[in-house]
Amino acid sequence: MSVISDQVRSFWDIDAATYDRSPSHNPTSTVELAAWGATLRRLLPPPPARVLDVGAGTGFLAIQLARQGYQITAFDLSAGMLARLADKARDEGLEVETVQGDATEPSVQGFEAVVERHLLWTLPDPGRALEAWHYAAERLVLLESLWGAAGGTGERLRRAGHGALRRIRKEQPDHHAEYSAELRAQLPLAGRSTPEALVSLVQSTSWGPARLERLWDVEWATRRGLPSGLDRLLGVSPRYAVIAQ
Ligand SMILES: C[S@@+](CC[C@H](N)C(=O)[O-])C[C@H]1O[C@@H](n2cnc3c(N)ncnc32)[C@H](O)[C@@H]1O
Repeated sequence: MSVISDQVRSFWDIDAATYDRSPSHNPTSTVELAAWGATLRRLLPPPPARVLDVGAGTGFLAIQLARQGYQITAFDLSAGMLARLADKARDEGLEVETVQGDATEPSVQGFEAVVERHLLWTLPDPGRALEAWHYAAERLVLLESLWGAAGGTGERLRRAGHGALRRIRKEQPDHHAEYSAELRAQLPLAGRSTPEALVSLVQSTSWGPARLERLWDVEWATRRGLPSGLDRLLGVSPRYAVIAQ
């Protein structure tokens, strides 16, 4: 395994202990979950299709899809994240296969669709990963958010506003730490996961023409669940999907 992969894996192995406490990582509002459920069902072939969730983490997508009757393989570099996912699936009596490995060269294939949420930014070679996923699956569904540096001044201000409100409420940060500047410098999409970048990247691979959709329903449902009027005034970051097949 490369030095970058080692650093990324160690980060997420530690983050696994607290990742799910952030509502942006692990939404629990029934309304937001319903909006995600409808979105996934619309973008994916119907259950019981075989779906590969790459960079599955603690299983936000994998568990929702298993609840809907999909046959899920959750693939991730971090044993810590996968262990959390497996515990959650077991608690609900859901069947989810977990496989540890590097998404750039997945050791599994034969899927009707591959999904990811918030993985691409942390890959050193996202184009190579997309190419590898095309061998593994027939449809590609990327679920992404336009936040941080990628979102420009508006998103920076929104983030600063939400951050200030969270500090006033004495809430914990979303992660135990941040990636180092040295590590981020080796990740071409870190802070640059824009719709333009991802559509171009997908179209530069063998996936070919991509479709882009704004996930308005998920944004609407997420905003409704924010804890205060001030949070709702600041709003939520744009979410979008890039689809190809
Ligand atoms: C931001 S988390 C997203 C987790 C999950 N998809 C979600 O939406 O909550 C990124 C995940 O990608 C995983 N990851 C990072 N690099 C990876 C790689 N090269 N191969 C597989 N998984 C990777 C991390 O271990 C982590 O679980």
